[in-house]
Amino acid sequence: MKISLSDKIVNMPPFHVMEILERAQELEREGRKIIHLEIGEPDFPTAAHICEAATEAMCAGNTKYTHSQGLIELREAIVEKYKSQFGVDIIPEQVIISSGTSPAMLLLFMALLNPGDEVIMSNPHYACYPNFVRAVNGVPAFVYTDRDDGFVLHAEAVMEKINEKTKAILINSPSNPTGQVLSPGTLQDLADVAGNVPIISDEIYQGLVYEGEDHTILEYTENAFVLNGFSKLYAMTGWRLGYLITPKEYIRTLQKMQQNFFISTNAFVQYAGIAALRGPQDTVREMVSTYDKRRRYLLQRIKETGMEVKSEPKGAYYILADARKFGENSLELSQRILEDIGVAVTPGIDFGDGAEGYLRFSYANSLENIKEGMDRLQEYLASNR
Ligand SMILES: Cc1ncc(COP(=O)(O)O)c(C=O)c1O
Repeated sequence: MKISLSDKIVNMPPFHVMEILERAQELEREGRKIIHLEIGEPDFPTAAHICEAATEAMCAGNTKYTHSQGLIELREAIVEKYKSQFGVDIIPEQVIISSGTSPAMLLLFMALLNPGDEVIMSNPHYACYPNFVRAVNGVPAFVYTDRDDGFVLHAEAVMEKINEKTKAILINSPSNPTGQVLSPGTLQDLADVAGNVPIISDEIYQGLVYEGEDHTILEYTENAFVLNGFSKLYAMTGWRLGYLITPKEYIRTLQKMQQNFFISTNAFVQYAGIAALRGPQDTVREMVSTYDKRRRYLLQRIKETGMEVKSEPKGAYYILADARKFGENSLELSQRILEDIGVAVTPGIDFGDGAEGYLRFSYANSLENIKEGMDRLQEYLASNR
């Protein structure tokens, strides 16, 4: 007998960027040279001292379960980071180490939401947010941000969405897909309008800021859950290492969930995390400066194709460009670009209907590849208007 699966899971949209990537890989297997401007993954290797720390830890027998919340040394290193970088005081008990930011997100939404509870988030947003919320029977409440204003989330618009069902306000700065960085004033305003509603701040792109300053929501309110991890800044996507910082009153609940659902995070990977935070930061500085050069170059090239970027991105490694003059349907446009000229870009629709007609370009690729991809695209778009 064929059973019917959960409706909410069956109806979950795919993560289009992964589908584009998978199709691009298929074309590569057929011998095509594909330029990857779709995937949000650093093209740099993980720094040698981080790899060595993991190898040493593994060989020294650190191959067992750890404390469910993670190694105390790693949690202390995270506490030190938030203190030294932002002047924020947290304690190691507030930190839960997870296998990437993604499982921490699932844990958090599961803990916060009863069926029908709402999470306010911007539209466009990181593709997976609404899918996490819906998976635990919550409801994403979208605030459509202004295309002409770089899609920045403003506190007044958030305030209008708050009602008795609101359980959290989700923010992401620096942002995927817009590359925008929220100003201290906006963060303060968001903290003020949130009142008793907690803010969930996805800070996974922290450190990847090229203009202005880096901030954490914890500078503005204690009523916040912070999601962060090692994937982006330390080029450690495949290691699967992230963390959640929770207000003190929820520690026990989240700890029990972590014990039941995940037991603990990979032990030797946590040692790699300690090396990342406490070791030399020169490779990080070099990566940031390289991303910045690519950002400036790609921005210029995107404009030359006739696509528009109204407000320049200042962080992460993405540019969300208005491609409506080349086609209203971003999925169809990105598929066509991939098949016809072998350039992989992400359709805006992946990030919500607020980004339909847009394409997201990732500059987590070499200048040489970006140049080749944009040369191909410029010629293609010029002949396809
Ligand atoms: C905004 C945002 N949050 C979270 C994640 C997931 O990160 P992780 O690798 O830590 O699971 C991503 C990955 O692209 C992201 O862009």
